[in-house]
This record gives sequence, structure tokens and C-alpha cells, in this order.
Amino acid sequence: MSLEKSDMPQYNYSDLIGAGPEMQHVFYMLSQVSITQSTVLIMGETGTGKELIARAIHNASPRRNKLMVKVNCATLPPNLIESELFGHERGSFTGALERRIGKFELANHSTLFLDEIGELPPDLQVKLLRAIQEKEIERIGGKHTIKTDVRIIAATNRNLQKEVAESRFRSDLFYRLNVFPIVLPPLRERKEDIPLLAAHFIDRFARTAGKKNVRLSSMVMKQLNAYNWPGNVRELEHVLERSILLMQGNIIREIHLSSPLSKAENKSKADEDYSRTLAEVEREYILGVLDKCRGKVFGPGGAAEILGLHVSTLNHRIRKLGIHKEHKYFIKVPQH
Ligand SMILES: Nc1ncnc2c1ncn2[C@@H]1O[C@H](COP(=O)(O)OP(=O)(O)OP(=O)(O)O)[C@@H](O)[C@H]1O
Ligand SMILES: [Mg+2]
Repeated sequence: MSLEKSDMPQYNYSDLIGAGPEMQHVFYMLSQVSITQSTVLIMGETGTGKELIARAIHNASPRRNKLMVKVNCATLPPNLIESELFGHERGSFTGALERRIGKFELANHSTLFLDEIGELPPDLQVKLLRAIQEKEIERIGGKHTIKTDVRIIAATNRNLQKEVAESRFRSDLFYRLNVFPIVLPPLRERKEDIPLLAAHFIDRFARTAGKKNVRLSSMVMKQLNAYNWPGNVRELEHVLERSILLMQGNIIREIHLSSPLSKAENKSKADEDYSRTLAEVEREYILGVLDKCRGKVFGPGGAAEILGLHVSTLNHRIRKLGIHKEHKYFIKVPQH
């Protein structure tokens, strides 16, 4: 009997971009774990797509017909997290005017996405561990336990192993969550995905902005490649959104990065763009040293001493490179 296509699990990863080996590995992991009930721990820097992956797992799982429920452990004040997770009975504490159903109960037969799990206070780490292990919860002020069937996906941008080593995160909870870890690499380590991601976001924002055939200039593409993307995919998304709004015509010739290209990044850009002659490199280097010693060529702390050259040799080079003509310090070089 052959399997019809419609019998096969349907994965919808159309929103997930990644052609390089790192993301292909992530997609493979995703396809393996989605159909199971296993707990998944997604780790990665800010903006690497942790929430997107969590949603993709839920959407490809047998639980996809129910909404995934999300709790952000970082944005709630610690005293409210317990009620948020487990709910409370009316009158269980001052201000508990009504019974409240917690997110664990809401996620029954569905997926509970515990975002920023690394921020969970220690007392709640114990309670969460118990809820996951026993598969039951207790509302605050409640008299009985409630059975739950919840699939857990947790995410963090912290190094949880380190948090455990430094006793900020319980090791038993870590091992309970770390059943199926997925690590999302930072964008600077998968630069081969930048053109695809850029095309994906350009397509989206150009359509919203009503612009057609939007393209990137090759200089801008080089800048995108040279940048180190501390904010990862989210930063790339925002940069392109801004650039599309500000662009004239249909070619993006300018981008506005939040942090400037570092010297090294700029240098690699310069190296790619035009190969400088040795004389240019030497000239720039000598100018830099002269700048440091405020134009002083000879004597202690002078450029010749710093460069380890005889004064006459340095003078010769300075003359040859035409430095005295433009340099802001007036450099006296005997003319022959
Ligand atoms: N592989 C990808 N393909 C397409 N879009 C992506 C990809 N990864 C991330 N994005 C987009 O980048 C943005 C940030 O992703 P997401 O919110 O999932 O990151 P995060 O890791 O949860 O970040 P944070 O740690 O700051 O919460 C979203 O708009 C998401 O759609
Ligand atoms: Mg997130």
C-alpha cells in the first residue's frame, strides 16, 4: 500500500527561511520533534527566531487545531507569574476577586510556550517542575489538583547550562526541559541566509508599501554581509522595513544600521571593494603614526622611533608618499 500525499504529515514552514546547513539542520530537528509530545527547549540569541520555531513546531503537531498558549516569564512581575501559570480561586489572596484559569489549564490538549524561561524565579522553577512531572496543577487557593495534558516548548536567550552551573537555574528543571534542545545559530554565523532573508522581507514590506520590483544595490548587499547583526534576524527585518520606507525609486542604495560597521567590518568591505596598493596602505599607516605623535618625526616619541626607522628613511618615504602636502601637521621634510 502506498502512502498518499494527503496521509503524510503536512509541515508548513513557508515563513521560515534558511538555506544554509545550520538552518537546514534546525528544520530537520523540527520535522522530527513536531509530531511527538516531547518537551522542546529552544535556545538562541535575541531575534534568532525562537518564537517562530516554537509556532512552527506547534503548527506541525497533532495539537495544531488548538491555539498555542504563551507565557512570557520575563515580562510578568514575579508575584503574578504563579497565578498566570496555574490560576487562582476567588479570595485566595487580596485582589483575587474572581476565580482565574491559569495558562496551564488553558493549554490543556494544546502547547504551552514558556518564553524567556531563564527568568523564572527559583520558587516557581520548583512548581513548574512539579507540574511538568506530575502532569497536574493546583490553582492558588485551590482544594484539589487538576490533571492537564500539555505539551511544553520553552525558550531562552540565556546560556542555561551556565545558569545551572552558577546555581541560578535548577538543574532538575533544566534536565526536564532539555529533552530535545534546538539551538538557533546567530545570523553572523549563517551569513549565507542573509540574501534569502532579505528577499523575504523585501517582498513583504514592498508589497505593504505598494512598491514593485524592489532590489538591493550590490554595495548594500555587501554591507548587509559585513555587518555582525547583534539583533539577528529581527534587526535585519527592521533595517529593511526602514530602508524600504525611505528609499527613492526601486533600488535600495542606502541602509541604516543601528550600530556602525566596526573597523574590521569596514576594512573587509574596503578590501572587497577595491584592492588598495601597498603604497596606500603604507601611507595610511604612516599618517596614523604621525597623528599620534602630532607630526613629530624625529627625537624621543617621534614617528621614526615608533616605526623603528632611521629619520632619513622615514623622511624619504614621507616625501615619496606626498604626505606633507595634505597632512594636517606641517611636516618639515628637507627637499632635495
Ligand atoms: N528563519 C527565519 N525566517 C523568517 N523570519 C524569521 C526567521 N527567524 C526570525 N524571523 C523573524 O525575525 C523576528 C524575530 O523572531 P522571533 O521573535 O521568533 O525571535 P526570538 O528569538 O523569539 O527573539 P527574542 O529572544 O528577542 O524574543 C520575527 O519577526 C520573525 O518572524
Ligand atoms: Mg522571543
